[in-house]
Amino acid sequence: MTAHVPPIAPTRKVFVKSYGCQMNVVDAQRMSDVAEAEGYESTETVEDASLIILNTCHIREKASEKVFSELGKLRELKDERRARGLETTLVVAGCVAQAEGETILKRQRAVDIVLGPQAYHRLPELLEKARRAPVVDIDFPEEDKFDHLPAPSLAATHRRGPTAFVTVQEGCDKFCSFCVVPYTRGSEVSRPAAKVLAEIAALAGQGVVEFTLVGQNVNAYRGAGEDGAVSLAALLERAARVPGVGLLRYATSHPLDMGADLIAAHRDIRKLAPFLHLPVQSGSDKILKRMNRRHTSAEYLAIIDAARRARPDLAISSDFIVGFPEESDEDFNATLALVEKVRFASAYAFKYSERPGTPAAERAGQIAEEVKIARLAQLQGALDRQRLAFNQGCVGMTFDVLLERTGKRVGQFIGRSPYMQSVLVEHAGAALGATLRVKIARAGPNSLEGIIEG
Ligand code: 5AD
Ligand code: SF4
Repeated sequence: MTAHVPPIAPTRKVFVKSYGCQMNVVDAQRMSDVAEAEGYESTETVEDASLIILNTCHIREKASEKVFSELGKLRELKDERRARGLETTLVVAGCVAQAEGETILKRQRAVDIVLGPQAYHRLPELLEKARRAPVVDIDFPEEDKFDHLPAPSLAATHRRGPTAFVTVQEGCDKFCSFCVVPYTRGSEVSRPAAKVLAEIAALAGQGVVEFTLVGQNVNAYRGAGEDGAVSLAALLERAARVPGVGLLRYATSHPLDMGADLIAAHRDIRKLAPFLHLPVQSGSDKILKRMNRRHTSAEYLAIIDAARRARPDLAISSDFIVGFPEESDEDFNATLALVEKVRFASAYAFKYSERPGTPAAERAGQIAEEVKIARLAQLQGALDRQRLAFNQGCVGMTFDVLLERTGKRVGQFIGRSPYMQSVLVEHAGAALGATLRVKIARAGPNSLEGIIEG
């Protein structure tokens, strides 16, 4: 007689793909945590997933359109899986979901759930509802989603490695005239300091060493504390005292919120990395005004000077937009002049992209695509030269490098310098998560190579 063997339930798997900024990286992790708490196993192979989540970005047209081409491919995958008797739930999350809502269901019928960034904690109930009909949830709920999101499991934290992003602030009240973020992410909200610190302590307890505090406007952070609001500088100071925390970073900042206490934090907090990502967007005061940035190029330069006085080796990074409406050659040259003055360690440059619903998209004086392309190439050339020079200046220096990932070669590890450059080292006996003294031997445009000291 054969014993009755119960059928083994097939493992349900979730695949999450994220586009865009660091906020989305954290959100993608939180959605995997929610799915894992619902019994899904995370997979890197989309074909195996019965739950597929695209965490989308709306910041530029290219990023937005990528989602729809990806959805076309996923629709085919869903059909193939169905032919094999496998059901697939397709979720569009993130800023495109927030901005386009129902339209996504109309443009791509294979989508089951459209989920805005404030509603991720409601994924379980939406999965249930979507079994009957497609659902859209893009409300800004009253409750704090962080209170309803599960903490990552130890396995998830280990999989993600010894570095973590922690969301401290969401949304933006600045309304730069080119930007969709205030509309897709809503107004500025800071998480209470105690909750952020508890999350850092829990992750440090699971072995995380480096923390990046993230927010759309992270230096506008004003979290509730026991005796009134806590600034980002005060939060960093407290985070540095959490046992197990090795290094702290933060992103992304706005010049208007670069207070004296945050600048002083770069001098006083030993665990705060000497790196500042401070987008300026343009070097022309006329364009800055039209962008509604509310500062001049001289004011930006004054902040950089003050920050460098506080921490002389501070590496500066930025974002730039070329081809904003009415940007003349003279305006663009002012951007190039600012770049020469600052000497950036790294920076991102983008062609202006007209975003529906933003004031700048309505303006006369839109710039021709060929002009944008030429200006982008010229600015990129200048920024590339500065990045290489900065990297070369690191040859001979010695840094503590946390081994974050394995490289392509056997025994090769990749970490970051305090200045955010990728550092490659080879060491047969080393382990991920270890921090080693590394002397920089070579510098390329995108990374440094080092040798283990001692
Ligand atoms: N076009 C081009 N770049 C943009 N950014 C934001 N909105 C746009 C747009 N409409 C850039 C800014 C910002 C970065 C995250 O994306 O440089 O700092
Ligand atoms: Fe967008 Fe400006 Fe807010 Fe940054 S500060 S998210 S560029 S509106």
